[in-house]
Amino acid sequence: MDREEYLEKLKESIDVLSDIMDTENYGMCLVDGEGRIIKWNYERLFGHKEADVLGLPVESVIENTRLHIVARTGEKELFQIQKIHGNNVIANRIPIIFNGAPIGAAGTIIYKNTKELAEAWHYVERAENNMKAYKSELAKMYQARYHFEDIQTINPQMEALKNLCRVVAGTQATVLIQGESGTGKELFAQAIHNASMVSQEPFVSINCASIPKDLMESELFGYESGAFTGARREGKIGKFELAGHGTLFLDELGAMPVEMQAKLLRVLENHEFERVGGNKKINFDARVIAATNEKLGESVAAGNFRSDLYYRLSVVSVDIPPLRSRLEDLPELCMSLLASQQKKYNMGGFPASVSGRVLTLLKKHDWPGNVRELRNVMERALIMSQGHEILVCHLPDYLQSLSQGGAKADGNADGAGGADSDVGYYYREINRLEKQMIESALKNCGGNRTEAARQLGIHRSVIYKKMKDLNIFSGE
Ligand SMILES: Nc1ncnc2c1ncn2[C@@H]1O[C@H](COP(=O)(O)OP(=O)(O)O)[C@@H](O)[C@H]1O
Ligand SMILES: [Mg+2]
Repeated sequence: MDREEYLEKLKESIDVLSDIMDTENYGMCLVDGEGRIIKWNYERLFGHKEADVLGLPVESVIENTRLHIVARTGEKELFQIQKIHGNNVIANRIPIIFNGAPIGAAGTIIYKNTKELAEAWHYVERAENNMKAYKSELAKMYQARYHFEDIQTINPQMEALKNLCRVVAGTQATVLIQGESGTGKELFAQAIHNASMVSQEPFVSINCASIPKDLMESELFGYESGAFTGARREGKIGKFELAGHGTLFLDELGAMPVEMQAKLLRVLENHEFERVGGNKKINFDARVIAATNEKLGESVAAGNFRSDLYYRLSVVSVDIPPLRSRLEDLPELCMSLLASQQKKYNMGGFPASVSGRVLTLLKKHDWPGNVRELRNVMERALIMSQGHEILVCHLPDYLQSLSQGGAKADGNADGAGGADSDVGYYYREINRLEKQMIESALKNCGGNRTEAARQLGIHRSVIYKKMKDLNIFSGE
């Protein structure tokens, strides 16, 4: 059989098929290797009789056709949406192969119920667009605010750390940031992210100390629907997945339970994980930055932290010195913290500053809460000074009492008032009482913050915030 005979046979079979086919909604046509029409039962759809179109180039008869192309390339195209007379139809284009080479193409068109199909397509299209929008919203939600320029310091050790981190930012290396609470660990983590190639991707942070042990795995890895009783029906995305190609910041890593440490190590080694109750592998491409306020090396020695994970995470290790060992940073820090608080409270006008005596006092304190403590001190002082120069009387009691002769001694020079004109009295007392309540609850519960929050009748997240704000250290 030669190719002409073969095409004849196909034409005959189309005649047979159209006898048994539902030609209301279905049509076929055949083109030769040059894309000329050699068989036509599209009369119902296009109105043209077969005799009028035979031998014509198919693209001159059917709008948006690709049959002539398929006849040349030999590559089939299935379930394509094609617009004809303003309606969407479903087209299949199948090449006719003879002796291994394309010699023509058969087209079929379905033109019923395509409205629903077109709607489905639009729906998918819309869903895809929404997805894109959500992704960029997500990246905005999980944005890092701080840059290296925001890290104020004139301390040489700190400057060296900043430089090291600038270099590290350009790599994918895992970073371990160690330092006391409030030294600026998160600041460094965000600055690294913002200086990296993936600054447009999410910066997702998770505080290992504030998540109950039994929820940690699902918080980190997410879960599939029905993974456990109480799970949401639609499942939940975990932080590892949210981080995408960005940065995953594991804060207070020292509080991570040992079983989770093993799982984390496996994810870091294999670059993949599974949701709880799922079996699909999900790629993990984010960079990990971990922070801890305990000396992890000591935890490793004590057997509370896996050494293999410690070595895996501390490829680059950044130890931020406490504020008490870089007191030369105090003046700059005061200025920049005051400026940002002024902005927060919309207290423009004159740039706030601290008096010389205040600075002398601040240098006497040993700052267990580091820069965060200083920020809180500056915030309340700014409110009390109403935006004027910060004087000793605007400082909390515990700082005022550092001045040798007590607050009164420098009262004249600094303009401190007695109880009558003490604008800060009210807030100081409130803070003092609040601090007392939380501290005693913590003491009752052996430092267990979740339990203490329960006793006080406040949410766990509230106690964390209060502890930060009021410089309470549970010693946990
Ligand atoms: N070097 C610094 N310059 C300016 N602000 C700082 C600096 N270090 C810390 N801060 C401020 O102190 C607060 C605590 O910093 P953070 O990074 O959350 O500390 P950590 O994570 O170590 O507990 C933040 O509000 C941050 O803006
Ligand atoms: Mg922190």
